[in-house]
Amino acid sequence: MAKILVTGGTGYIGSHTTVELIEQGFEVVIVDNLSNSHEWVLDGIEQITGVRPAFEKFDLCDRERVQQLFRDHPDIDAIIHFAAHKSVGESVQKPLKYYRNNLVSLMNLLEAMNDHHIKGMVFSSSCTVYGEPDELPVTEQAPIKKAASPYGNTKQISEEIIEDQLKAVPSLRAISLRYFNPIGAHPTGLIGELPLGEPENLVPYVTQTAIGIRKMLRVFGDDYNTPDGSAIRDYIYVVDLAKAHIVAIRRILEEKQKKNYEVFNLGTGRGVSVFEIIRTFEEVTGVKVNYVVTGRRPGDIEKIWADPSYANRELGWKAESTLGEALLSAWKWEQHYRKNLEKQKA
Ligand code: UFG
Repeated sequence: MAKILVTGGTGYIGSHTTVELIEQGFEVVIVDNLSNSHEWVLDGIEQITGVRPAFEKFDLCDRERVQQLFRDHPDIDAIIHFAAHKSVGESVQKPLKYYRNNLVSLMNLLEAMNDHHIKGMVFSSSCTVYGEPDELPVTEQAPIKKAASPYGNTKQISEEIIEDQLKAVPSLRAISLRYFNPIGAHPTGLIGELPLGEPENLVPYVTQTAIGIRKMLRVFGDDYNTPDGSAIRDYIYVVDLAKAHIVAIRRILEEKQKKNYEVFNLGTGRGVSVFEIIRTFEEVTGVKVNYVVTGRRPGDIEKIWADPSYANRELGWKAESTLGEALLSAWKWEQHYRKNLEKQKA
């Protein structure tokens, strides 16, 4: 049984991936500094899988502590690196926080990978590297555009750092997965997305409005050059996304890569507008979402969706869930989570 280090394993995508890893027989060690997540996420993982993964709370920017981790766990085979700051807006306000955290942690891990003979890394990247694409759908060959935010820039630079390090040490392996827009929660409703304060992302805003925590969803712009005027994204169900990580980690462990550094788009291949999200959510849950159309959000792009055919072909992976299923799971999680909060208060 291979042992995988999952950084950011109590976070949104990290927790769902940990569940899939455990269910497929992997042993997991989570490292997280809990800067944007909670230790009780481990309870959810344990309730779903029956296994509580090993957990170490520390900051990956601590170079010596990272080395210590690999001395304590000499049997780690590979890494899935999720841990990073991810708020686009905050990164504009606090660029150094983003560059320091996202880049130093990556470099510490790459260094330790080399020192401790770790096979490879799956890296959490983003479609943000494509900016506003010239051609749709977006393939992995699309040009990398100047990043619109320091956050986006950390993803671009991270990919470059990995590529350069793998050129220097050809025995290392890595796969960057460029996610489109992950949404939804585990079908049990026991783990899900946990935005701190007011959500930036669309789906948590929709579920919080539906449950009454937010008065009104703001639709950022209905004057885009799209069929209904609202912006278009490729929303991918988080469990489908999690499963792609298991395929990628096996590809590294089994040395099936075509070259030691590979990049894949992870999306559904379908573009969905903001209004379609609202309509589908209302259809599948029967709950109305109050919304108002406001101006465009600065920095937003008009439309983007993936060409996932390379991942479909090469990884033998495909996003399988429908938009309705994904939105229903997000709703189930919102309800479960709020009920739990009330219970804790009572
Ligand atoms: N939107 C609203 N109202 C909201 C929130 C979002 O109308 O309250 C709209 C946005 O304008 C956009 C769509 O919903 O058209 C999706 O917005 P999200 O914030 O959910 O997602 P983004 O596509 O803006 O951002 C995502 C990731 C980022 C990544 C970016 C790259 O969250 O990490 O894609 O494009 F950088």
